[in-house]
Amino acid sequence: MSLVKMSELLHSIKDNSYAIGSFNVSNMEMAMGAIRAAEKMNAPIMIQIAEGRLRYSPLELLGPVMVAAAKYASVPIAVHLDHGGTMETIKLALDIGFTSVMFDGSKYPLEENIKLTKEVKALADGYGADVEGEIGKVGGAEGDYKEVDIAITSVEEAERFAKETGINAMAVAIGTAHGNYKSEPKLRIDRLQEIAAVVSCPLVLHGGTGLTADDFHNCIRNGIKKINIATASYDSVARYIKEMISAKPDANYFDISDAAVKAVTENIVKHMEIFGLKNRL
Ligand code: 13P
Repeated sequence: MSLVKMSELLHSIKDNSYAIGSFNVSNMEMAMGAIRAAEKMNAPIMIQIAEGRLRYSPLELLGPVMVAAAKYASVPIAVHLDHGGTMETIKLALDIGFTSVMFDGSKYPLEENIKLTKEVKALADGYGADVEGEIGKVGGAEGDYKEVDIAITSVEEAERFAKETGINAMAVAIGTAHGNYKSEPKLRIDRLQEIAAVVSCPLVLHGGTGLTADDFHNCIRNGIKKINIATASYDSVARYIKEMISAKPDANYFDISDAAVKAVTENIVKHMEIFGLKNRL
């Protein structure tokens, strides 16, 4: 049994030398690929599904698969709801046994974001689960959500948001965006440093796909403790399956299933190595 809480993983990081990877999954094969990657790396991992992707993978079905995958893994796994937008979905994730939920209130004015995030925190506390909030706006869109422009997190707002909500992790907007970058991202490491200097709550980097190893290292050195990767895994699965079918036109369902697991494992191992996670048990 190795289902753990996000806070356990994030608080085990004693210096700025590595960060926990949190990888989006959309089906059993992707969950298996993620767990296999973590076991290969001998390191903890987080797996997550975003509310904006539930059209393809209903939480009632995928959620129990994710929790079971974590329980049967030999390494610590936290199971997380990414970009929760409604109380209904957040409560469902907690009922299923997710150990943390994100409430993404970044589209609301500050006061409203604080108020709603506090409500989610009170609900999650009743389950002994953790909460991630977001302040500022990470660009792009996660699944069915509307595309948004980047709004860099203000230091004052970050400080107030962390203090008043009591959240366990805080997503900050420092120039990243969800999805593949259309132009080179301009990371505000200066802003990350300013936020990290006044906020003790672990900081989360969204929009990891497309950043360079140097970008990741720079963010980790300056206080990022959790890094989200989604698009790179989805793209890796699509590419592997297309390549496999062009090399083997008579591929059957099980060949495709295997290719999906391998594609996710390969992408996650690559990112976990960059995040400094090898043998971090
Ligand atoms: P990417 O799709 O850019 O990797 O972003 C993932 C993410 O931040 C999920 O919340």
